[in-house]
Amino acid sequence: MNRDDFYLLKKNIIYFDNGATTLKPYILGDTIRDYYDNYSANAHRGDYDISIKVDTLYESTRDLVKNFINAKNSNQIVFTNNATDSLNKIIFGYFKNQLSENDEVLITKSEHASNILPWFELADNIGINVNYIELDKNHKLTIENLKKAITPNTKVISIAHVTNVVGDVRPIKEIINYAHEHDIKVIIDGAQSVPHIKIDVEELDMDFLAFSAHKMCGPTGVGILYVKEDLINDIKPIIVGGGMNSSFEFNGEKQYNEMPHLLEAGTPNIAGVIGFGSIINYLSKIGMKKIEEYESELRKYAIEKLKKVPNIIIYNESSESSIITFNIKDIFPQDLAIYLNKYNICVRAGNHCAKILKDELGIKNTCRMSLYFYNTKEEVDKLIDVLDNPNIIKEII
Ligand code: ALA
Repeated sequence: MNRDDFYLLKKNIIYFDNGATTLKPYILGDTIRDYYDNYSANAHRGDYDISIKVDTLYESTRDLVKNFINAKNSNQIVFTNNATDSLNKIIFGYFKNQLSENDEVLITKSEHASNILPWFELADNIGINVNYIELDKNHKLTIENLKKAITPNTKVISIAHVTNVVGDVRPIKEIINYAHEHDIKVIIDGAQSVPHIKIDVEELDMDFLAFSAHKMCGPTGVGILYVKEDLINDIKPIIVGGGMNSSFEFNGEKQYNEMPHLLEAGTPNIAGVIGFGSIINYLSKIGMKKIEEYESELRKYAIEKLKKVPNIIIYNESSESSIITFNIKDIFPQDLAIYLNKYNICVRAGNHCAKILKDELGIKNTCRMSLYFYNTKEEVDKLIDVLDNPNIIKEII
């Protein structure tokens, strides 16, 4: 749907790498161009018309994001550089001060690097323990396994809502409820879910949510961090400088701003944030429920077709999201991706930044197709035509 909104879709390209980043509709470029051409002032610093316009649009994007995920207040929404930055801000700005030696964080082996490496750093820095919740035979996280993994030392569970290789949709409502009953905080990495599924942070009782604009038709360089209302006063800045302080003196006395500006030191990605505002309106107009339903149908179609391709191994047939991960027997995934590129089909090959998932999948590298609302059954058919070629191995090798 909405294919006419995308310049790249008018070209001869089949784009199945939406988990890495999505295509951008015209409205994004138009909005960003308008900022650079017509009112390119800084934010929160000027007393003249174009600067006031910047402040108004920048802050109205915050309100749009607040409404999009149903947060209570705009000061719970922080603009960051990307989901990785949001996760680092949570882990080093909040948990580093809250956790002590031998406290435990639970993650899984299917997390992205950005939800693993900060914890490894914290383990090195303050001696917390990083432990893994076992995944089931389909590499999914179940509430039963989560319950088994929790110990008296568990203080935080940090998991993706939808993982970027297995593509399983985690039962986060039950997980958060259970965690809260045991006084455990939960971080949700929403990079692969917020673009595809309607999220209600209030209904889910979320503590922290991180996601990126560029995986939902928005600009690169804009991430979002949501913080629960009663935690916002306990999060500390990990980057300090202009824009986040109200005063400082030669003797080191200093006064910092309140959230969300506290975590937005330096000139932000103004064009990106304002552009993202146009995208929130764009996606809301299409409707997140409609996007979810459309993708679910397209996934089912793609799985049924892919299953019939000779020598295919699908690693996440039973997952629910629009991520499908596969290999063709005896073909190195990157060779397959390069081969598909000859037909203008874009997929991602490799370990997809989930470098310890190999222990679960039993394989290091895979091909990943990740769908979005503008993909079609016809595009899936074209992929199948290319894969369903008895000479494919000969042609690649
Ligand atoms: N995290 C992005 C992906 O999964 C880049 O491809």
